Amino acid sequence: MKQLGINALEFKGSKSINKIKVLGKGHVGIVVLGYTKKGINALKIRRLDADRIEMMREGEMLRLANSNDIGPKLFGLTNNFILMEYIEGEYLPEYIINHMEKKRHVAIKRTLRKLLFDCYKMDMNNIDHGELSNASRHVIVRKSGKPVIIDFESSSDARQTKNVQCMCNYLFMGSNISINLRKLLGIESTFPLIKALRVYKNANYRNRFEKILRLSGLSQ
Ligand SMILES: Nc1ncnc2c1ncn2[C@@H]1O[C@H](COP(=O)(O)OP(=O)(O)O)[C@@H](O)[C@H]1O
Ligand SMILES: [Mg+2]
Repeated sequence: MKQLGINALEFKGSKSINKIKVLGKGHVGIVVLGYTKKGINALKIRRLDADRIEMMREGEMLRLANSNDIGPKLFGLTNNFILMEYIEGEYLPEYIINHMEKKRHVAIKRTLRKLLFDCYKMDMNNIDHGELSNASRHVIVRKSGKPVIIDFESSSDARQTKNVQCMCNYLFMGSNISINLRKLLGIESTFPLIKALRVYKNANYRNRFEKILRLSGLSQ
């Protein structure tokens, strides 16, 4: 941690481990707040029982995502730690449910459009996130409404990309927010969307992506 310039940790967050509060925990890492002289950051610490011996690969995938303006900014990387930008906000489903209650439909649409554009950008640049078919804990929406995709531990630059497909499946078909989202966006049948996603799969052309936006009620 010293190597990364960290001089303090803060145990705060909605999860806890043996009464110690943390920002998050997954099967690879535990994420806490870490302070450097530049300020507050998120520090992902490799779990001793993780199914990997280092964090380098994940860090490199995050760096690649960053080069496309995606993901929390990477600040430092060692075998056991990823130091990155702390993203403050709500998980995607909570954001959607809260904003639906407040009838902030335009804001939801703007966020989802941006999210699908980021997925498209990753598709175009050969980064497959790998865990977007369950996006519920892999997208944090900032107060400004900007979505940030996190956790590149399953990402690859050597696989066929499926970001747009996985995200659309999650949003419109396979999750507990899908019915509400379909209603909100006026998606009467998912059949044309499924077909468009299949066509898109073969070549991620812009016009094919825009058809997906149209069928999702998200083209402006
Ligand atoms: N950059 C970040 N800013 C804020 N919270 C984060 C950040 N990265 C991770 N988290 C929190 O920590 C949790 C676990 O991180 P994640 O990268 O998904 O770990 P794992 O690879 O073990 O699944 C996330 O669901 C999120 O709540
Ligand atoms: Mg995770």
